[in-house]
Amino acid sequence: MSSATTDPAGLEQARTKMTEAGVAPAAVETFARFYHLLQAGETGLIREDDVDPLVDIPRHADLDISDEDAAAALGRTAMLKLNGGLGTSMGMDKAKSLLPVRETADGVLTFLDVIVAQVRAARQATGARLPLLFMNSFRTREDTLAALEPYPDIAVDGLPVDFLQNREPKLRADDLTPVTWEKDPSLEWCPPGHGDLYPALHASGVVVALLEAGFRHLCVSNSDNLGATPDATIAGWFAASGAPYAAELCRKTPADVKGGQLVVRKADGRIVQRETAQTHPDDVAASLDASRHPFFHTNNLWFDLEALAAELERTGGVLELPLIRNDKTVDPADPSSPAVIQIESAMGAAVAVFEGATAIEVERSRFLPVKTTNDLLVLRSDVYDLTPESRLEATAAAPLVDLDKDHFKLIDGFTRRFAAGVPSLREAESFTVRGDWTFGADVRAHGKAVLEGEGGTVPDGAAIGPDGY
Ligand code: UTP
Repeated sequence: MSSATTDPAGLEQARTKMTEAGVAPAAVETFARFYHLLQAGETGLIREDDVDPLVDIPRHADLDISDEDAAAALGRTAMLKLNGGLGTSMGMDKAKSLLPVRETADGVLTFLDVIVAQVRAARQATGARLPLLFMNSFRTREDTLAALEPYPDIAVDGLPVDFLQNREPKLRADDLTPVTWEKDPSLEWCPPGHGDLYPALHASGVVVALLEAGFRHLCVSNSDNLGATPDATIAGWFAASGAPYAAELCRKTPADVKGGQLVVRKADGRIVQRETAQTHPDDVAASLDASRHPFFHTNNLWFDLEALAAELERTGGVLELPLIRNDKTVDPADPSSPAVIQIESAMGAAVAVFEGATAIEVERSRFLPVKTTNDLLVLRSDVYDLTPESRLEATAAAPLVDLDKDHFKLIDGFTRRFAAGVPSLREAESFTVRGDWTFGADVRAHGKAVLEGEGGTVPDGAAIGPDGY
């Protein structure tokens, strides 16, 4: 439904650019819908007065599902990992899942290696076929498929190992036209956030292929969350619920100042997602109040494949999700490059689209995201053990890690400074680093460990406490 007469010039240019690049029509229409929202100054705000908290949900730990039902449901489940993001917050331009996360006697394991091992272990333990699929983007596909080559067994029943998400032009912040960047034209494009799951699934035909191969449930999670392992009990609960869609939520702790949550819209009783960006400044305190909104959203989702297929069919892949406006620079590594807006949407916002959508409380161990190098340090450390089933099991309470942003925020700087090994953090309550420090081997942090000053090299075997080492 191109509408050259009514579309603003910037949108026309973006449409042409996308069409010439071969972007799927559903993705172009999704982009056009968001462009209009952006231009209209749509904020997608969800006011506290218009919602009730979501409180009354089942708990994973209390479920009473027979082994037989759980195994049967897992047998009809496929796993999908979102792998299209670029980890720009850590200065990356490829998938975070290609980063090393654990060192074992057999060598270094990336997130991807651990995900494959988790699926293989679940297959072995339960006999489930458990296909593992990835949603890649134009920036993550080649590397990811190369890294998956040693694992030919992850493809099941002729199903693809991945499908490709769409790309869209970054828009100049001043006039909302597609930006040009001759130094590196690939930076003129971005993946449209994980809400792109729906147009991308629609274009790929994967949902229909899964149904034809006898699968009924799809468990989707971020590839940077190694907590989202195959779980037969949740699969059994979801199958029995008959719900089209379910989100896994975690109970907030005092340390969680997280915005993303599900709330119940008073107008129609539907569950909707409210992101931080959709919270009115006057409602922030209420939204963060754990006694009022006790849960946050993990981005681990379950779909009934038949309901998903029907929704994709009904909408042509263009789900009515709220807009997320992401302000960046065209070259994320160059703050002086032109300011751009990236139009994005969130996969979990689709909860509002599915009538009868539900949610479940899961343990914190199903939520181990890596957004920053602080998160990565904890995951690489001895705070976690890798079990024989390749689950990350906490051996101690995770310390609050705060590394100097100037030297550790970007993955290269982080990697260089911990090249000799990651400190033991098991006995640390917190670990704060200010200055340009490089770490020797077998360093141990304890209590409220702090390193300050200009920086230097922490010697092999040093113990860091509240007064340094
Ligand atoms: P994040 O929100 O952490 O984004 O993604 P990111 O893109 O990886 O990192 P930043 O924001 O650039 O630093 C959560 C999950 O969603 C996937 C990511 O790969 C990650 O697993 N994702 C994100 C996609 O698959 N596609 C997207 O367009 C965006």
